[in-house]
Amino acid sequence: MTASPNLHTRIAGTGSHLPPRRLTNADLVAQLAARGIETSDDWIVERTGIRARHFAGDGVAASDLAAAAARQALEAAGCRAEDVDLIIVATSTPDMVFPSTACIVQAKLGAHGCPAFDVQAVCSGFVYALTVADALIRTGSARRALVIGSEVFSRILDFDDRTTCVLFGDGAGAVVLEAADAPGLLATDLHADGRHVGILCVPGTVSGGRVLGDPLLKMDGQAVFKLAVGVLDSAARTVLAKAGRRAEDVDWLIPHQANIRIMQSAARKLRLPPERLVVTVDQHGNTSAASIPLALDAAVRDGRIRRGDTLLLEGVGGGFTWGAVLLDY
Ligand code: UT7
Repeated sequence: MTASPNLHTRIAGTGSHLPPRRLTNADLVAQLAARGIETSDDWIVERTGIRARHFAGDGVAASDLAAAAARQALEAAGCRAEDVDLIIVATSTPDMVFPSTACIVQAKLGAHGCPAFDVQAVCSGFVYALTVADALIRTGSARRALVIGSEVFSRILDFDDRTTCVLFGDGAGAVVLEAADAPGLLATDLHADGRHVGILCVPGTVSGGRVLGDPLLKMDGQAVFKLAVGVLDSAARTVLAKAGRRAEDVDWLIPHQANIRIMQSAARKLRLPPERLVVTVDQHGNTSAASIPLALDAAVRDGRIRRGDTLLLEGVGGGFTWGAVLLDY
């Protein structure tokens, strides 16, 4: 299959969903204190920029959050679930080992028959999924795709490990992508370096009816931080060069929302003023594959992002994986 130069991909609508249970830093600090774990609002805000996060209630799965976000995106795009001919869910916290969360979402939306699969690239999952959907649309294999990032990271957090459990939250974001005569998506760039598997992982698996290894998140925060700052800048420059655009053409920078210091460094390196950075990490924490579409939808719905604006999306996370997507909204 080859991509047609006349076939492009555009975002037709965005949506998102956060579970209602919201914990401020003060709430979490109190809960952790009851377990004998010491942390503080000051430490969390100063080191990460996070002030609150949402946690899904018992029995709520990634597919529930994904379906809610997808319904909003479909409504914004003015189409129905049965109009979609491709569903991709980026998640590292799937409902089951198999089938894919995308198949479960498809059933929940009542759209049957179209291909549905998950993409597993941790916090880079959404830019990976967008890139795959873009390729399938430009080769004519799909006309309209739902691309969703959805996570329930609260399920894999070790609440006895203060270095990680204060960082993450749950949520989902979605876009409807559709075939168009003009871009849309201008350029994409994806990478992985498996030598760094160990710095951010959930090193457990299911075997013989038991969980083998540790099914909770482990992270070497400083190693991730150092790698993230460098690779985000190189992916950003690559998509700008591929599209023949300059950094100053970017209206909105939407990086993965893990740490405000990494995000500000990404903006600084591109010489973008801080007001062009979309920030939701303060209210959502790190929602892994959901963070970029959650931030995108927030800025679309509050009127900051308008049709025709140029957006730079940047993902980075476990794998180690990273990538960027440049698009005209
Ligand atoms: O989503 C995928 C991408 N993930 C990321 O991008 C995460 C990247 N990494 C980070 O964001 C940062 O490295 C962290 C926020 C995870 C940590 O910030 P840091 O400035 O690198 O802190 P640190 O790991 O150097 O720890 C500094 C101190 C340590 O104490 P000592 O050894 O200096 O006495 C930690 O034990 O802070 C301590 N500490 C805490 N103190 C209070 C670690 N976690 C906490 C905590 N509360 N929750």
